[in-house]
Amino acid sequence: MGDDTRRLSQMGPGSTSNLLGPGGRGWLVPEGAKKALLVAGGIGVPPVLCLADMLVEQGVDVDVCLGFGTASKAVGVDEFRALGATVNVCTDDGSLGTHGFCTDPAAKLLGEGGYDYVASCGPAVMMKKVAAAAAEAGAYCEVSLERMMSCGFGACNTCNVETVDGMKGACMCGPVFDASKVVVF
Ligand code: FES
Repeated sequence: MGDDTRRLSQMGPGSTSNLLGPGGRGWLVPEGAKKALLVAGGIGVPPVLCLADMLVEQGVDVDVCLGFGTASKAVGVDEFRALGATVNVCTDDGSLGTHGFCTDPAAKLLGEGGYDYVASCGPAVMMKKVAAAAAEAGAYCEVSLERMMSCGFGACNTCNVETVDGMKGACMCGPVFDASKVVVF
């Protein structure tokens, strides 16, 4: 745990702090979306759980593919099911769900069609595969990218993401990007 995270975790009712934000771009679900596929791995799962909650509230059908190293690292599975989502779980060692990567069931579902929104958060290689499968299926896809962030407000360029429109700071132009615009995940 970093120093600032530790300080945050120790704050209680009545504590105060200075905050600049929120900045950047979050998930932008296309208006009228009816069916979504969410693909997440490891620490990328919680942000996608918040998205699933929002989608369900909007009446969108949600299918989820989750990937973890092993069963003891799995998070959010029950929470996604409680929202009414169909959940596919994969682990690298086969200790929970299907043995393998969650990009495989995701690609299969995308191949079956019907999705008008795809969102992914997790390892770069996973998001790259999801983006490619979504593009092949003709589904709009967003990815939430992880970058080192030093300033958080567009001044330092440590968070740059290479896109088809040039370098974009993940802190202000992301962290969620239209996957079709991303060159380096
Ligand atoms: S964190 Fe400094 S420009 Fe994004």
